[in-house]
Amino acid sequence: MKKIGVFTHGADASGMNAALRSIYRICHSHHIELIGIRRGLAGLTEADFVPFDRSMTSNIINRGGTVLHTSHFLEFENGDMRHKAVVNLEHAGIEGVIGIGDATTMKVLSQLAREHSVKTVGIPATIDNDLYGSDYTIGFDTAINTATEAIDRIRDTADSSDKVYAIEVMGSESGFLATYVGIACGADYIAIPETLTNVHDLFHKISHANRRFIIVIGEGDEVGGAQELANLMKEAYNLDIRVAVLGHMQRGGTPTVRDRVLASRLGQAAVDALLSGASNIMVGETNGEIHQTPLQMTFERRKALNEQFVRLAEMLG
Ligand code: F6P
Repeated sequence: MKKIGVFTHGADASGMNAALRSIYRICHSHHIELIGIRRGLAGLTEADFVPFDRSMTSNIINRGGTVLHTSHFLEFENGDMRHKAVVNLEHAGIEGVIGIGDATTMKVLSQLAREHSVKTVGIPATIDNDLYGSDYTIGFDTAINTATEAIDRIRDTADSSDKVYAIEVMGSESGFLATYVGIACGADYIAIPETLTNVHDLFHKISHANRRFIIVIGEGDEVGGAQELANLMKEAYNLDIRVAVLGHMQRGGTPTVRDRVLASRLGQAAVDALLSGASNIMVGETNGEIHQTPLQMTFERRKALNEQFVRLAEMLG
């Protein structure tokens, strides 16, 4: 293999740049040319290609976001768009493609491999940590550390004023982020999509505590977001709850050591996989080891939160 293409797609995640740097350096050591595909799938269909050189990857290991930029290019669902992408790849002489991103990214890579025999490898990167086939996804560790630090600050003020706070974290339909952050910041209650929240019981817990009370609520919880929970409590019990929505601050910022190392390992594993002839797979880390998982499994299977972990979060609350 002489030429590999790489893109980042979907929501950005801290550590994507570290993965790009790793891929470039591993390619370079094998005398393979690396072509950056800008703006994810949008750039793939428009042949927005840029050859990587050393300057593009210097000083990026410590930067959040992605130097290649990204997009949510929903038009790629259209078969004609995928055909266009394949023509562009052939025209540029790109023999293998590495996609870094979320479940949609894995789905697209799988389609390109199955429908057009493009050699594809995925690298999991999302703050949601919701991809089957890797214990951790790039960006998750940075996001939980950022959110925990923010909540520590809120805790100081909540503690001083004995107020009740509902703090909403991201996570899409999955409670990984909320559970890790909730445990780490010593939340009094953690609401996640995987479990039901009994609002009446929660009100009694808050009343019984009679002091500062911190609720961490994950996106996708059936109650709705932090504001919806606060409205409900006001209406039903005339209870005042302060609301903080952490939002996109969780996605940016300097990647943690864990994310940089994971990204560097997975970058190497992705190039090695392509060179060994593997395709239609995602590289991931399970129990500290690098594994390959068929792409289709990564988005069709649900990565479940460990039950013991959920129970621990309940017991500590
Ligand atoms: O998938 C990452 C994520 O940050 C989710 O946690 C969140 O639901 C979503 O992206 C937000 O997407 P956008 O930035 O497009 O609003």
